Amino acid sequence: MVRETMLSPADLIWPLFVTEGEAVEEPILSLPGVSRWSVDQIVVRAAEAIDLGIPCIALFPNTQPERRSEDGEEALNPDNLMCRAIRAIKQAHGDAIGVLTDVALDPYTSHGQDGLIDDAGYVLNDETVAVLVDQAINQANAGADIIAPSDMMDGRIGAIRKALEMNGHPNVQIMSYAAKYASAFYGPFRDAVGSSGLLKGNKKTYQMDPANSDEAMREVAMDIAEGADSVMVKPGLPYLDIVRRVRDQFDVPVFAYQVSGEYAMIEAAAAAGAGDRDALVLETLMAFKRAGCSGILTYHAALAARLLNG
Ligand code: PBG
Repeated sequence: MVRETMLSPADLIWPLFVTEGEAVEEPILSLPGVSRWSVDQIVVRAAEAIDLGIPCIALFPNTQPERRSEDGEEALNPDNLMCRAIRAIKQAHGDAIGVLTDVALDPYTSHGQDGLIDDAGYVLNDETVAVLVDQAINQANAGADIIAPSDMMDGRIGAIRKALEMNGHPNVQIMSYAAKYASAFYGPFRDAVGSSGLLKGNKKTYQMDPANSDEAMREVAMDIAEGADSVMVKPGLPYLDIVRRVRDQFDVPVFAYQVSGEYAMIEAAAAAGAGDRDALVLETLMAFKRAGCSGILTYHAALAARLLNG
């Protein structure tokens, strides 16, 4: 009765990794308990999410190395892995599940950066935005409900919003990765999408310095002004102060991404006997809600939903 914060499966977004083939499950070694699934299996995971009361899944493709290129043009292929997965899920489940798609070029580039690079390896902001717009439209055409740009280029939210309107997708939402930090917690994710071996250098020229908090407020303000429907803070637990500041200062929903390295830390702690997995998962997710999150992206979504459903 006096409990201030509630946590339910409806607060969760479940990130899933897609791979080529039929009836394929590929366990991801650095994310124990998480696998890449072929499109037919992703459809089954989506059914599981619906049964558990999880309203949305987030898709990430593991693009085959031979389909990657310097300019990441596979991102624009209407039959790429991502678009096939979106169409299959929508065909099977319609509006019963939300599909959130990541906009950034790292799953498609041969260098693992989120954008186009110049000869010195620097990511080119404006040239990249032009491609991201086409990538977003490609995903919306396939049936994506929420476009989630994770690339951190300047000006991409406004450009994508305008293109969605002009291409017949006025109801497709944008969840902006507005405060995304250059973090050491993304390692297992880069394994999962197959870009860790390719990535040269780092992403510090476009992702944020973990020392900065005011800058996050400026990024959020800009993305809202450009038309973001909701914003995201990423990683999660180490950045709950940022979540709280966004919650207090702005009136759009704020989401947090409990990222791959955070998942791996909980799994490692549980495996080492340092804590009880179920309790750690539920406590961390409750902390996100207490900090002001409308929802949380977490690889533990299915487990948490099962626990919450009792
Ligand atoms: C890439 C992207 C990343 C994540 C989501 N989208 C990694 C990165 O920026 O290198 C990280 C998610 C996670 O670690 O779970 N655009």
